Amino acid sequence: MKILVLPGDGIGNEVTAQAVKALRAVTANGPGFEMTEGLIGDAALAVHGDPLPEATLEAARGADAILFGAAGTYESDLLPPEKRGGHGLLRLRKSLDLYANYRPVTAFPELIGASTLRRDVIEGVDLMVLRELTGDIYFGTPRGVHRDDRTGERVGINTMRYTESEIRRVGHAAFRAARLRRRKVCSVDKANVLETMALWREVMTEVGRDYPDVELTHLYVDAASMHLIRRPRDFDVIVTGNIFGDILSDAAAMLTGSLGMLPSASLGEGGRGLYEPVHGSAPDIAGRDLANPLASIMSSALMLRLSFGMEAEAAAVETAVRHVLAEGYRTADIAEPGSRQVGTEEMGDAVAAAIARSRH
Ligand code: NAD
Ligand code: IPM
Ligand code: MN
Repeated sequence: MKILVLPGDGIGNEVTAQAVKALRAVTANGPGFEMTEGLIGDAALAVHGDPLPEATLEAARGADAILFGAAGTYESDLLPPEKRGGHGLLRLRKSLDLYANYRPVTAFPELIGASTLRRDVIEGVDLMVLRELTGDIYFGTPRGVHRDDRTGERVGINTMRYTESEIRRVGHAAFRAARLRRRKVCSVDKANVLETMALWREVMTEVGRDYPDVELTHLYVDAASMHLIRRPRDFDVIVTGNIFGDILSDAAAMLTGSLGMLPSASLGEGGRGLYEPVHGSAPDIAGRDLANPLASIMSSALMLRLSFGMEAEAAAVETAVRHVLAEGYRTADIAEPGSRQVGTEEMGDAVAAAIARSRH
């Protein structure tokens, strides 16, 4: 069981270290994992001049699972695309064909008060954003900035593009996921304006015919963003394209109290998965022991479940997270008056200790 650990940049380093602690704690009495570390993002750019060096990609191909932190900084975001830290992550996802990004959004009872939203709106929220991850305007060509011959002004171009088969495979993934949940899929698109999205809706409807036991609804993305905040409990699986999924999931994070609470799993056809918190490198808090490590720790639980079939261990990690929250441990982003405010390390230690206690 080989795990490649790619901490990346900023708080990626801090939170990933806590997830590694959790993985070690949960396998303390078993065969354990072979964990190696690699470079990605700005950290890789600094050493190799490339945010996704060949050595990292090779190591990823040779691993059974990858634990990723965060990539990019505001500085490298201004460089040409091939030098941006975040593009290392985009290339990793694309190279491994990890087209289905599962982003579960769960409002824990312990954190209802940490959200900016009202208790009666978010209580019981349990949904999954399934974001297509290897297509859309992120990868479509033509793209770039060029100077218009006639007017002499600069023009920026990106292309929203999906093939029918790309839509179909993530559609099937959505319906399969819904069968393990509450049997509802809401497909989110912009079919009223964009041809790509009209095709998206058509193909989702076709796929849905294979799953008569699952309810399929459609929403335009603008309305979906509103319904997500207004009546979040109604959603089960939300399936959407790469760009809409990116945006909707950060918004959905606030249903849980913090972006630091959203884990994710990026999967393709094989068993190998990439496990990544939804948040980024958070330059505003990086290096100060302030980051919430629970998104990364819960991503490692998804790894145990989905890449290694270790359901008991996955549940042990998730239970430990709930346990420390019930004990009142809170990082700054989810702190409330009267809670026990701790740093990244202490939160990670508390989760690891709770795992260790539960495994004895
Ligand atoms: P961000 O997700 O890094 O941060 C957004 C806000 O949420 C910040 O205020 C941050 O402090 C807070 N936050 C995020 N994670 C947190 C955590 N675990 N605990 C507590 N607070 C947390 O998004 P951004 O500021 O727009 O981007 C920062 C950099 O990260 C950019 O260079 C961006 O390109 C990159 N980025 C990378 C990823 C990724 O690697 N998956 C994702 C998003 C952004
Ligand atoms: C995410 C991030 C990335 C994305 C960036 C860093 C390229 O925002 O994982 O959600 O847009 O996919
Ligand atoms: Mn994002």
